[in-house]
Order: sequence, then structure tokens, then C-alpha cells
Amino acid sequence: HNGFFWRVDKQHCMAEWENDNWTSSMDFVLLGIRDVPILQNLLFLLLLMIYAVTMVGNILIVVLVVADRHLHTPMYFFLGNLSSLETCYSSTILPRLLASFLTGDNSISAHGCMAQFYFFASFATTECYLLAAMSYDRYLAICQPFLYASLMTWKVSFHLAAASWLGSSLLLLVVTVVFSQVQFCGPKSIDHFFCEFSPLLELACSNTRVFTLVVFIFAFLDLICPFLFTLASYVCIIAAILRIPSSTGRQKAFSTCSSHLTIVTVFYGTLFVVYMLPRTAPLRQLNKVFSFFYTILTPLVNPLIYSLRNREVREALRRMIRKATTCTHNYVGDTGKRHFLFL
Ligand SMILES: *[C@@H]1O[C@H](CO)[C@@H](O)[C@H](O)[C@H]1NC(C)=O
Repeated sequence: HNGFFWRVDKQHCMAEWENDNWTSSMDFVLLGIRDVPILQNLLFLLLLMIYAVTMVGNILIVVLVVADRHLHTPMYFFLGNLSSLETCYSSTILPRLLASFLTGDNSISAHGCMAQFYFFASFATTECYLLAAMSYDRYLAICQPFLYASLMTWKVSFHLAAASWLGSSLLLLVVTVVFSQVQFCGPKSIDHFFCEFSPLLELACSNTRVFTLVVFIFAFLDLICPFLFTLASYVCIIAAILRIPSSTGRQKAFSTCSSHLTIVTVFYGTLFVVYMLPRTAPLRQLNKVFSFFYTILTPLVNPLIYSLRNREVREALRRMIRKATTCTHNYVGDTGKRHFLFL
């Protein structure tokens, strides 16, 4: 789209806008990854695989955390909660994207777009809050070990998780209501693979100054506050770890928070690159690539990091596999006949 058509379209729509409200009846087209037609099939398979591994991995972690009583601690309660969040988070984007690969239909209704924006942004905010709650948990465990049990009780951890889910869904409800007041006209194609707010905002033809202000305030609450909180916790944690005299003690303390620190770094790192990079033409593709990281790869790497790096999760997994195999052995051995009859 060059500037000329953009301007013509804009004027055209301004005229039309006067007599009927068509924001709600308008469909958007997600341009997404259409620029590489040869790679479509390969990309489809890759995304399908990523989605399958994300779902299986995260659901497995939730099952482990719920079923294994060695993992019944606040730290793993938060991990289970984060994993259940990641399944939702990934499901706001990938199924729609995969379906559009299959059907070749890239359009999305205005309401669908708003819904996608709401759910995606509210889950992303929940993730920021949960990561902050997890770092607070690690801060207490490492810096206040004697107060840990009395400060991080079940009730507190349950409330922190509930507040993350509730708070972010309410905050984003406000943002989405304000956002839905913005009028869209002009070219209806969103240069992104999902309804992200900055590519959408570029299509607005009404005055977006109020909305931009609202977004700044909320971005502060959603993103900057939990980020600063997490950063502060980790500064304290690392200072405390460096003060431990023995190197094995240092390693032990660090190992309890290294998986979480890795996830925090990946998530915020890519998020900040996406929102800090100016949306100029050459950087736009790079922006999409980084959006891909924080929307699609973060939920994938979370269970991988925990299952590869965290000894307790690995052991819980081993216990579950052992239990599952002995169960089926017993079942086949003892009740082989009955099993056969049932078949
Ligand atoms: C996550 O936290 C919420 C609110 O505290 C709770 O209702 C839910 O059961 C938790 N989910 C998991 C999988 O632990």
C-alpha cells in the first residue's frame, strides 16, 4: 500500500463514516506471513508441531504439579499456573493462524479481532504478573529463608495467582472498551499475523490521542510495574547469592531460580524489543519475527526449560512414567483375560 491509496481510502471512508456505523460489520485481513508463498506448507507443519508440543508440554507440567506431592510447594503451584496460562495464551493465536493456512482465508471479523486482542493481551499481562509473583516467591525463599514458610503460605500464593488472572482481565477489559471506540476505516489489512494493537492502531482514522494516553497508562501498570518488581527481586536475589560463601551453596541457591530467570529474560527481552523498536518499514519485518518469539515461542520453551533444567520436575516426570508403566504391566498381567474380553 503506498501513501496515495492510503490517503484516498481514508477520505473515502471518512465520507462513508458519516452516515453509517460500520466498524462492527467490517472484516480485517491479517497479512501475516503471506509474503513467503513457497514456504506455506512447511510453515504450517512447523506451527502445527509447535502448537502440539506447547499443549502437550504445558498440560504435562500442570498434571505433574497437581499429581506429584513432591511438587506441592508454592513455587511449583505458580509453575503449574503459568503452564495453564501458556496453554490459553498460545491458543489465542495459533489455532486461528493454522486455520487460515488451511482455508486460505485471512480475514477476521472486527469483533473477532477485538476478542483476540483482549484475550491475548490479558493473558500476556497475566504472564507478567505471574512472573512477578514467582520472582517474589524466589526472593522470599532466598533472601528471607526463615520467614519464607510464614510469608508464602498456600493462601498467599493462591491469592497472588488469582489476583494476577483477575487483575489483568479487568485492566484489559478497560483497554479493550476504550479501544473499541476507535474507528477503523481505510485499508483493512493488518500487517501482522494476529490482532496486535500497534498495527491495528495504524489503521485508525479517528483521533487516537486519548486512546494512546490510556494505553501508556495501562502499559505502565501491565508491563513496567511487574517488570520493575521482577527486576528488583532478582537484584536482591543475585546480591544474596553472591554473599553466600561456599560455591556449592551458591550453585544450589541459583539452581532454584535459574529456570525462572531464563523464562523472564526470554519473555521480557523479546517483548521489549517488539515495543521499543520503531515501526518503520525496514524494521517492521524484524518486529514480526520478534513478535513470533514472544507470542509463540515463549509458551513452547517454558516447559522445555523446566523439564531440562529443573531436577525436581525431571524426577517427578520419571516417577510418573515409572508409575504409568508398572500400572499397565500389572493391568495386562493380572487382568489380561478381562482386558481381552473388554476389547
Ligand atoms: C491457578 O490459580 C488460580 C487462582 O489462584 C486457581 O484457581 C487455579 O486452580 C490455579 N491453576 C493451577 C493449574 O494450579
